[in-house]
Amino acid sequence: MKTVRTIASLRENLQGWRKFDETIALVPTMGNLHAGHLSLVGVAGKIADRVVVSIFVNPTQFGPTEDFASYPRTLDSDRRQLTRAKVDILFLPSVAEMYPYGERGGTVVSVPDLSDILCGAFRPGHFDGVASVVARLFNIVQPDTAVFGQKDYQQVAIVQRLQADLCLPIRIVVAPTARDPDGLALSSRNQYLDADGRARAPGMHQALRACAARLRDGEREFTALETYGMADLASAGFRPDYFAIRNAVDLSSPTATSRKLVVLAAGHLGRARLIDNVLVDL
Ligand code: PAJ
Repeated sequence: MKTVRTIASLRENLQGWRKFDETIALVPTMGNLHAGHLSLVGVAGKIADRVVVSIFVNPTQFGPTEDFASYPRTLDSDRRQLTRAKVDILFLPSVAEMYPYGERGGTVVSVPDLSDILCGAFRPGHFDGVASVVARLFNIVQPDTAVFGQKDYQQVAIVQRLQADLCLPIRIVVAPTARDPDGLALSSRNQYLDADGRARAPGMHQALRACAARLRDGEREFTALETYGMADLASAGFRPDYFAIRNAVDLSSPTATSRKLVVLAAGHLGRARLIDNVLVDL
């Protein structure tokens, strides 16, 4: 695996591949890789000839009181895992390479409405930071395919909207959520959990699955179900941000005849803010 740190040297490598009509898949990450990230790399390797993984802890998607400075950075272990997974190139840009006009002065890509709800309501500006960095990565790599995880459901919806609205010739592929055996979705932020928090954390997935089961049983009192979900999170020890039932396609509020739903939750457990979701196909 080659590690490249500049756009110029990345482009040289990509040109070599394109001459031979090789297809390219991009997996954007912030590093501190776990089996969830590697499952995306596995999907990428199956659908394209070449795989590029980016590791960039993107400052513009962290709020002023969030964990940008302390976000786990584990480059040696990340490189070992990516080498083993047969990734072709690790793109490891600096902040200046990604934001040459400054991280505060650069062009902002903003997907309206979708960015203001759910996690966006609790993390103002977060999804503008995500859309702005993903748009840059798409333009830098110009991949045929980009792979994202369902775990960050709202992020996927925003990236899909960005792709469609800006007519980007990139296929967005969504990979399922990798979980620990007890149901907890793998996340770099799980390491902020102490032993008690780790024991309580699967309660979020259990609350989501309980709600999904009630929807499958025919319950349609969405507001009541959301209230139960909030109570389930609280009794598992979370300080919940939200528990929401939405249309899976566009995250709008469902009606009694909606068929493809997603149940999403976010909440704090000690220092860790966790998110998860389950799809419900009725
Ligand atoms: P990061 O949190 O590092 O996640 C990188 C990718 O891995 C995302 O597409 C995310 O959804 C996926 N992922 C994380 N945990 C997963 C799990 N348990 N199962 C499957 N996939 C999982 O998401 C970001 O970085 C950033 O916002 C980024 C898109 C890189 C932009 O900065």
